[in-house]
Amino acid sequence: MSQVDLVIRGARVVSDHQIIEASVAIDGESIVAVGHDDLMPPAREVLQADGMYLLPGAIDSHVHFRDPGYPHKETWKTGSAAAACGGVTTVFEMPNTNPPTGTVDALNLKLKAAESSYVDFGIHGLLGDDTVGHLEELIEAGVTSFKAFVGNTFGNLPSPSDGALLEGFEKLAPLGIRTVVHAENSSILARRQKRMQAEGRIDALAHLAARPVVAEIEAIGRVLTLAEWTGARVHIAHHSAADSLFLIREAKRRGVDVTVETCPQYLLLNTDHADHLGGILRLNPPIREARHNQPLWDAMMDGTIDMIATDHAPHAPEEKTRANIWECDCGFPGIETQMALMLTEVNRERATLMDYVRWSSVNPAKAWGIYGTKGVITPGAHADIAVVDMNKSGILSENELQSISKISPWDGRAVKGYPIHTLLRGRFVMRNGKLVTEAAGWGRSVKGIQAMPKAKPQNTEHYTSAILKTPEGVRPTAEPTR
Ligand code: NCD
Ligand code: ZN
Repeated sequence: MSQVDLVIRGARVVSDHQIIEASVAIDGESIVAVGHDDLMPPAREVLQADGMYLLPGAIDSHVHFRDPGYPHKETWKTGSAAAACGGVTTVFEMPNTNPPTGTVDALNLKLKAAESSYVDFGIHGLLGDDTVGHLEELIEAGVTSFKAFVGNTFGNLPSPSDGALLEGFEKLAPLGIRTVVHAENSSILARRQKRMQAEGRIDALAHLAARPVVAEIEAIGRVLTLAEWTGARVHIAHHSAADSLFLIREAKRRGVDVTVETCPQYLLLNTDHADHLGGILRLNPPIREARHNQPLWDAMMDGTIDMIATDHAPHAPEEKTRANIWECDCGFPGIETQMALMLTEVNRERATLMDYVRWSSVNPAKAWGIYGTKGVITPGAHADIAVVDMNKSGILSENELQSISKISPWDGRAVKGYPIHTLLRGRFVMRNGKLVTEAAGWGRSVKGIQAMPKAKPQNTEHYTSAILKTPEGVRPTAEPTR
């Protein structure tokens, strides 16, 4: 057997259905063998990983790397460094940059910025009234998927009209491409916020009061209606409420291709933390009352919620700590702390490591059409691996974050279970807890490997494209009327 680049021995390999003692051989960018140590080929390097677990690198469906537009909040280099140090090997990055990722020019700016990435990436293009006419161009130019800001949030992108959303779904359904939706009802949020401001409310909890659960219920219901009708694949971003889960359960039962993410903050934080965290906690959708935490966890366990994402939404500390809640930017960083937080819950026996791998790697890989190459430790797959020490304890510290945004609600939180090394396509991007700075730029787009399952468009005879066809015998008017 010819020599390979690396063999990892002594660890246990975790998939979504089993944990086995096995060595893993890596050559070039790929895994070439998983099995008994006696069967491993000779290697140039051995990583002795006794007592460790090998997890497929985490795939984070929801990150904001801010570049182009807000490099004082984050850049691709710092955001992806945070990913690498958090055991994350693939990210999907959001279009609320400046310019927003709704034109080929803006996409090219982003792809240029992403050349410094430590981790692999997909790009969510913007789906809105102004972009719905050229989704195909964006796909051609490199977006992997789309995002619709149905609820207003950072960047103040106008929420798509229902008409544009329907037409967008009609275009994307036959292509099998999935659209992420920020599902809150914008008009409810805007009106409520105005009312709160008029009353002089500037406290942290006013933000939650302005974004009631019903705004999430309404938006999810509307989006699922359009998705089911058109056969479009959708993905509900940052699911925050217990009360909207029934809609997902029913839609899944009817066969709607909807995937759902939640984030550590919705599982582990609640308004009881608002007193000492204040504006730091401001994000969209809001952190809600404690009664939502456990039902969201239960929904992860029963498959209603498919995956864990972070909504890594960095802002400068100064932008997060203003006295008036309406002047605090929404969001906080999370990509670097997700794995340690979730492994801590595994150590508390709230889930198994196999559950975690299903949420962090397997299901996101399936949702974005990259499963097999990513999301699994098996011969032929990319060698994207988080080497995890379940016994390492520590205290999360915002000062140690790679992210520019050194302000985190997790600061000071005790955790047990850490990624120690992160490999992306055979190369260490974090080693012994330290960023491997030479690996900047090793990340690349997953577009080339993306293969979504067969599309299932529905009701195509009612699509805008179909009704625009002139029936025989009817003379089209010369000019479209406006
Ligand atoms: C995100 C951001 O800052 O870009 N903020 C947030 O509160 N979640 C936008 C978003 O995902 O809604
Ligand atoms: Zn959002």
